[in-house]
Amino acid sequence: MKKITKICCIGAGYVGGPTMSVIAKQCPEIQVTVVDINQDRIDQWNTDDLDTLPIYEPGLKEIVGERRGKNLFFSTEVDKAIDEAQMIFISVNTPTKTYGKGKGQAADLKFIELCARNIAKVAKDDKIVVEKSTLPVRTAQAIQNILDNTGNAVKFEILSNPEFLAEGTAIEDLIHADRVLIGGNDTPSGQAAKDALSAVYEHWLPKERILQTNVWSSELSKLVANAFLAQRVSSINTISALCEKTDANIQEISRAIGFDSRIGPKFLNASVGFGGSCFQKDILNLVYIARSYGLNEVADYWEQVIIANDYQKSRFAENIISSLYNTISGKKIVIYGWAFKKDTNDTRESAAIAVADALLEERAEIIVYDPKVSEERIYADLDYLNTRSPEENRRLLTVTKEPIEVTKEAHAIAILTEWDEFKTYDWTTIYKQMLKPAFVFDGRRLLDNDTMQEIGFNYYKIGQS
Ligand code: NAD
Ligand code: UDX
Repeated sequence: MKKITKICCIGAGYVGGPTMSVIAKQCPEIQVTVVDINQDRIDQWNTDDLDTLPIYEPGLKEIVGERRGKNLFFSTEVDKAIDEAQMIFISVNTPTKTYGKGKGQAADLKFIELCARNIAKVAKDDKIVVEKSTLPVRTAQAIQNILDNTGNAVKFEILSNPEFLAEGTAIEDLIHADRVLIGGNDTPSGQAAKDALSAVYEHWLPKERILQTNVWSSELSKLVANAFLAQRVSSINTISALCEKTDANIQEISRAIGFDSRIGPKFLNASVGFGGSCFQKDILNLVYIARSYGLNEVADYWEQVIIANDYQKSRFAENIISSLYNTISGKKIVIYGWAFKKDTNDTRESAAIAVADALLEERAEIIVYDPKVSEERIYADLDYLNTRSPEENRRLLTVTKEPIEVTKEAHAIAILTEWDEFKTYDWTTIYKQMLKPAFVFDGRRLLDNDTMQEIGFNYYKIGQS
């Protein structure tokens, strides 16, 4: 088996950056180069001030500080890095298509294809190409076709190695991965490639946690894993609506069912709805693939997970509007949290975007506080929806770094991300300076019911009447 000494990763994003940092940390003898066409992003990865890395993940800056310049490099010299590496990870974005066939559902593979063509153009010796991006089942076939038809007689072995890290816990998830999945051909060279990649992970993970499958199972497993996880959240969220009508308590239900070892306790937290760059995109992709094979019942089943999630977000917003006497025009509503979950600055598909948009439609005056998300990002998220003009968004919504101060004369607060700091706030002071009745809509079940009611709040906690 060929020993890997040089790795290149194309794509310095939420997956490429942390994943390669951890490989560099755990494999000091391997040189890891992360490349990207986005010069700004690479400059940010190379910044002297580690607090301004492009991605915020607990534990990341320490690893980058330790390995960068030794065996971890960030660069825009894509061709050079491809040329030098024996193993190339493709970790570029695969967003939902916004045009043409499959618009709104299928994965857009144009960045993947560009990478494949670039590798084919540059490579002068045999390479192992690893799909790290989440891809529709059978994409490896397309990559192989592109690579094999370039005429420079280089032999490429394609592996699928999907990433299961969750944002906010990326470093922990990478170092203590439940499992690593490696899909490849069942040929001698395919097996050698799988073993070479396995050897990288074996630097820090026990071999029995590194699963080998065929390429197609590996590609599809990633979509299925995300679909199952999202399905759990939608399942519990639909029950939260029922709890609010029946005096049942969603937390007690999660606990009661989670004690069944077949169900298990994790991922049963009711919320304002799941967000993040993966769940919706990957389910839409699964739905598209199922439909493209004529499996309409399969597609409908999984599509329901997204419909339930959209319902949860709009249900939350409608509850705010109806609780505030069906008129929120000109009312000051403070939003705590814009990220799609705590401990990340990522806002992709965050429930906060949909809730804010619904409240803005009713002409509320919104003020947003998030400890990690920039003002620029918040406006970009809203403008992207195209619901109203950018000027209108800036007129109706402002962003603050003073979470307590802004609650003065506010009608309501909506908690949309479960940042720990919200629990530590002096809620009595906040209550005193808000207009009465003072409402708190807790979309993350973060605060204590009795305490909030004792202070005097009209406190709504998702999944509890
Ligand atoms: P991202 O948008 O954060 O990063 C992708 C990077 O690829 C960008 O910086 C972009 O500039 C770069 N890129 C695009 N085309 C390029 C090219 N031709 N050459 C060089 N660089 C190029 O995306 P991400 O969140 O890191 O996701 C990457 C993949 O991993 C996706 O398929 C996603 O579904 C999957 N994934 C993401 C997560 C997550 O938590 N974000 C988890 C598991 C899997
Ligand atoms: C997810 C998968 O967990 C990960 O394995 C995959 O690689 C990428 O997609 P991520 O989107 O980063 O990771 O975060 P995750 O922790 O899964 O949360 C996704 C969304 O679901 C968040 O908005 C979160 O707040 C929400 N969620 C999660 C709930 O509302 N309730 C839960 O019980 C769990």
